[in-house]
Amino acid sequence: MNVQAIILAAGKSKRFNNNSSKLLATICGKPMIAFSLTELKAMGIKSTVVLGHMASEVEQVAKNADPYATFAIQKEQLGTGNALASSAPFWQSENLLVLNGDMPLVNEEIIGKFVKNHIESDAKVSFVVAHAPNPGRYGRIILENEKYKIVEFKDCTEDQRAIDLINAGIYIFSTDFVKSVINKIKKSSVTGEIYITELISLANDMNLKISTFEASYAKIRGVDMLEQLSDIEEQKRMDIIKKFMANGVKFTMPHTVFLDDDVEIGSGTVISAGVQLFKGTKIGTNCFVGPYVVISSSQISDNAKILSHSVVEESVLGVGASAGPFAHLRKNSVLKENAIIGNFVEVKSSTIGTGSKAKHLAYLGDAILGKNVNIGAGTITCNHDGKRKHKTTIEDGAYVGSNSTLIAPLTVGKNAFIAAGSAINKDVLEDDLAIARQRQENKPGYAAKLRDRSVAEKK
Ligand code: UD1
Ligand code: MG
Repeated sequence: MNVQAIILAAGKSKRFNNNSSKLLATICGKPMIAFSLTELKAMGIKSTVVLGHMASEVEQVAKNADPYATFAIQKEQLGTGNALASSAPFWQSENLLVLNGDMPLVNEEIIGKFVKNHIESDAKVSFVVAHAPNPGRYGRIILENEKYKIVEFKDCTEDQRAIDLINAGIYIFSTDFVKSVINKIKKSSVTGEIYITELISLANDMNLKISTFEASYAKIRGVDMLEQLSDIEEQKRMDIIKKFMANGVKFTMPHTVFLDDDVEIGSGTVISAGVQLFKGTKIGTNCFVGPYVVISSSQISDNAKILSHSVVEESVLGVGASAGPFAHLRKNSVLKENAIIGNFVEVKSSTIGTGSKAKHLAYLGDAILGKNVNIGAGTITCNHDGKRKHKTTIEDGAYVGSNSTLIAPLTVGKNAFIAAGSAINKDVLEDDLAIARQRQENKPGYAAKLRDRSVAEKK
């Protein structure tokens, strides 16, 4: 069939109550407008999106989903019928497949069957209907004298509101029919809006053949309120989690996990309670992700462990590497094979070499650590001089004692040893020992003397 899609996305999203456009709201990381666009693109159907409220933002995310989409502007949000009229300069095909932009669960299967049904029924106008368990504020389908009409909830009588057959918001119209009537839609006497659903009554008046296609309510649900957004996201999330489970990923408390739709997880991996996995995260096989870990845009290699309450951003963990509990890996951090970052350690733009360890309370920023380096508790790389950032290089096998302050730019050579409590601002050569602290003085018997004095004073 010769068909193009028109997606209505200009509305003000008033029922979201947050001044934004609901079409920008994300579901498992994917903006609402992207869902139908992706399905249509996969079917080879060209889309025109009608923009209005927050036009440039919606256009941007729509372009990311389908670079071939074109854009029409609805100047004033006068209703869905007017939104369709605004796309007139783009009408080229014999048929228009029109979809509301707020249906994120609609898929290729439903659209495909609907188009097929339209062709087979030889109709000029078709629309999708569904039996809704709680029909709420949807437009109701009314069959009178064998003729369909759609009555908007606000315009319904009490009896009409009791009907559970609803309008999904997906239509096919012959383009010639739309051209002949699009400027004849009367405003609703109740809301003053121009409804696309009036086209059904106009087709009836012209005695055109109209057909309906029934879809499952679960797949055509619209999103008008944040509560519906959260319901749909929950459903989408559980679909993703179930797929992972089928592929051997264990979720200890699946209902507490949040993940975006592009996340990858290998089999044998365990995802604990409260984990959040955001866009661009890839987790290998047999990994352990502990409770309340948050990971974004990161790559976690096989057998790696991220223990509870750690945050990992734009970083890479090598095979068998371990981070946490309470670790913070910030952008561009790389833990090579079997490296260990322990509790209360922050790493930023640093590479921690194979088998190297920083197990407690440290800050490693703009540092490059070789293999088998040991970083003692309380070590800080001072990478910022107030204006610029500087690098610290710690070569293979070096040992940095606890509470060391490493003032960059600095190189600590291979197998060098830094005594605990040192403030180091000069390079340390291979195999050297550096001590940079005051020498200790012990006063024999002095503690006892002090004690006797305080006892005497109390008397
Ligand atoms: C619409 C249908 C209703 C149907 C329901 C299904 C109408 C009049 N009503 O109601 O029969 O049961 O969808 O979910 O069509 N939009 C514009 N310009 C406007 C107004 C809206 O582009 O001036 C866009 C919105 O951004 C949205 C879509 O059209 O993506 C539907 O608008 P919405 O306000 O959600 O309509 P509903 O009240 O849900
Ligand atoms: Mg809606």
